[in-house]
Amino acid sequence: MLAFSAVQPQNTPRSVRGRSAALVSFPRPALGGRRLTPQQSFAITSRLALATMGLMFALIVVGSIVRTTGSGLACPDWPLCEGRLIPRFESHVLIEWTHRLLALLVSLLLFATVFWSAVRREVRSRIGGLLGLAVLLLFAQVMLGALTVWKLLSPAVVSSHLAVGLLLFATLLTIAFIAAAESESEPEPVEARPTRTPGLLPLFALGTILIYAQAVLGGWSAPARRRSRAPTGRPAAASGSRP
Ligand code: HEM
Repeated sequence: MLAFSAVQPQNTPRSVRGRSAALVSFPRPALGGRRLTPQQSFAITSRLALATMGLMFALIVVGSIVRTTGSGLACPDWPLCEGRLIPRFESHVLIEWTHRLLALLVSLLLFATVFWSAVRREVRSRIGGLLGLAVLLLFAQVMLGALTVWKLLSPAVVSSHLAVGLLLFATLLTIAFIAAAESESEPEPVEARPTRTPGLLPLFALGTILIYAQAVLGGWSAPARRRSRAPTGRPAAASGSRP
């Protein structure tokens, strides 16, 4: 049912107010029979993004363990592992399989976060672009994960896998920050907003870019222990150090 209103509700966050020229507003989605205020919607989005980040942190740690233990080709195929859904009990296989399992759980949680947020108009209008970017990066990351196996741990592919993984993590962090800020924002007239000066922002931005480049370069050049042969007898791409 549509509700027609020309008046913006008092508790609408500042990012949303003033944007909707349309006079049509939809009833707010309900949770457990209760209607959510925009602030509550943003708070839940922030918590969901934080939960996804927490799980992704574990995934990144396990990814590093996969690399440093040389377990990258322990499952020589994808999406199955040695043609099986549940792998055999061998340490390298279990490490690689755990990374894939965590990736699946992260993907499901991320989709849940995006879906939950995207159906809320106020959240979508504020961070819809970032939510879309997160889905695109996730898709690219899973494809790069598969390519690490298909291309036998090609250094370029493994570095891209690390680079996109970090970007995805940063995107989720931004979503969580913005949503948390919106969940606490008081209604404020657009004219009353203080003018922001750049301050130290450019310096922080430069520092972040440099740290990111350093991490990806480190991933490219760090020596990786490789298993000389994949469990199926397929030779691994290279042993010893990366170029
Ligand atoms: C959201 C999804 C994923 C994230 C965030 C992620 C993240 C990572 C990270 C951070 C590393 C360590 C890279 C390094 O130290 O250079 C890694 C390694 C690895 N990942 Fe993923 N990963 C994801 C999904 C996948 C998937 C679906 C596969 C499928 C096979 C996969 C396969 C691998 C492999 C084989 C390595 C080890 C590469 C090597 O030994 O050099 N990943 N992952």
